Amino acid sequence: MSRSWFISFEGIDGAGKSTHIEGLAQWFKSRGHVVTLTREPGGTPLAEKLRELALHESMDSLTEALIMFAARREHLVQVIEPALARGEVVLCDRFTDATFAYQGGGRGFDWQVLQNLEQMVQKVPNTNLRQPDLTIWFDLPPAVAAQRLSTARVPDKFESQPQSFFESVRYGYAKRMQESPTRFAQIAADQSREMVWLDVVRAIELAYSK
Ligand code: TMP
Repeated sequence: MSRSWFISFEGIDGAGKSTHIEGLAQWFKSRGHVVTLTREPGGTPLAEKLRELALHESMDSLTEALIMFAARREHLVQVIEPALARGEVVLCDRFTDATFAYQGGGRGFDWQVLQNLEQMVQKVPNTNLRQPDLTIWFDLPPAVAAQRLSTARVPDKFESQPQSFFESVRYGYAKRMQESPTRFAQIAADQSREMVWLDVVRAIELAYSK
């Protein structure tokens, strides 16, 4: 693997993606890659401030979508694009699919408006529309996620939503995958951690061999 590589990780809260992202960073480093490990919303000092607002303040749904995209633009320009230009592997804990899933699916916000914002925000020099090379979707039934989250830390604004909200978020992810099937790898996140890890590595090797 020698070229730059942009991988995003998605799933409802409680899907268990974080430990696998850490593991993958080590996996890539041990193969000689420079890795940028980052997250959304966040990834720059300004975007982390926007994250605090988005996760803890109640607001109008357009305001929420705009904050997600504002944080994304900053993150893209300051962190993701420079890392890709240096030929690095960028591992991003959530990206635009989360906005479609949470604000589009979960909140019911207009899909077309999100698509317009996506076009505007992810336009970068030499690439019409920046998208991940691969998106790994940790797909978990919301009932299982709810059980996992009940023992987790104090919930933020999204984590404290009812199960029906996460059913809609899951539907949003499924819709995004339908729109870009070759970019997505859907992984059953209700298996053991070891099995999920094997599926993650397999998805990466398969995507790279294409
Ligand atoms: P995290 O807990 O995985 O770091 O994600 C932060 C929360 O923000 C999570 O509940 C999903 C939500 N979120 C959105 O609602 N829209 C977005 O565009 C992103 C990136 C995250």
